[in-house]
Amino acid sequence: MDPVVPAAPDLSDQTQPEDLLLGLRSVSKAFGSIRALVDVDFDLRAGEIVAVVGDNGAGKSTMVKILSGVYPPDDGTVLVRGQEIRFRSPADAYANGIATVFQDLALVEALDVARNVFLGREPSRFGIVARREMDRETLGVFTTFGINVPSISRTVALLSGGQRQGVAIARAVLRGGAAVIMDEPTAALGVRETAHVLDIMRKLRDQGRGVVVVSHNLELVFDVADRIHVVRLGRTAGVRDATRTDHSEIVSLIMGARAGTAAAAGLPS
Ligand SMILES: Nc1ncnc2c1ncn2[C@@H]1O[C@H](COP(=O)(O)OP(=O)(O)O)[C@@H](O)[C@H]1O
Ligand SMILES: [Mg+2]
Repeated sequence: MDPVVPAAPDLSDQTQPEDLLLGLRSVSKAFGSIRALVDVDFDLRAGEIVAVVGDNGAGKSTMVKILSGVYPPDDGTVLVRGQEIRFRSPADAYANGIATVFQDLALVEALDVARNVFLGREPSRFGIVARREMDRETLGVFTTFGINVPSISRTVALLSGGQRQGVAIARAVLRGGAAVIMDEPTAALGVRETAHVLDIMRKLRDQGRGVVVVSHNLELVFDVADRIHVVRLGRTAGVRDATRTDHSEIVSLIMGARAGTAAAAGLPS
């Protein structure tokens, strides 16, 4: 039986408004009779990595989609740099500095790496794609983040899972994401590629960006996150500073056993 840690203080309301890069306040979202999110608050500050964890169906992807402009909330508000905002679309969220790498990555298989990085925003001269400029910027961002591909003129169809993830991240970065959101970025990756994606997240953070990462891999979460936001059945089950909690407390929050109680310890109450 895992030892039960006393509950760490909840940090969800300690953010100063001026530090807040991206936030949710009392957000709810339903799909028909399914209450996917209920009264959720969320904070992301500049220069931190926040992991969102929870069981299947807990509401993680719905949260990501509201943060990234895919859905508006039914109730509650989205905040960007402390200001209330209503995204009209993911493009609108991008324009406000919120860049999301969705689980399916949304890459175009038949196009090469640089084209995918610039998809829909290719620089042009007299109506012709400015290939050299595109290549130079792509190489610049790949070098900065240590993203490796065999060649930026290779079609995406020929890349590995980790290389594709790198292309999708480069696109988010080049679109100026002050906040970069990633939904299960390493789900399809091996150990080395996963470590590499974690390094990219740390570089994003060290540049002063905010990173939101959804993952069910708690080892990864403890490796990279500064704070851990647990959702359960559409509600926030707890927000913990990663240095002041541990694996068993987070599992208890995910499962709904309250840390520090007899129930969590498996003891009769
Ligand atoms: N587009 C949708 N239509 C209907 N139900 C949905 C839709 N998206 C999510 N849900 C439901 O909302 C709940 C939360 O889903 P989701 O946010 O995808 O959870 P998670 O990402 O944590 O697995 C689930 O019960 C899911 O079935
Ligand atoms: Mg999901």
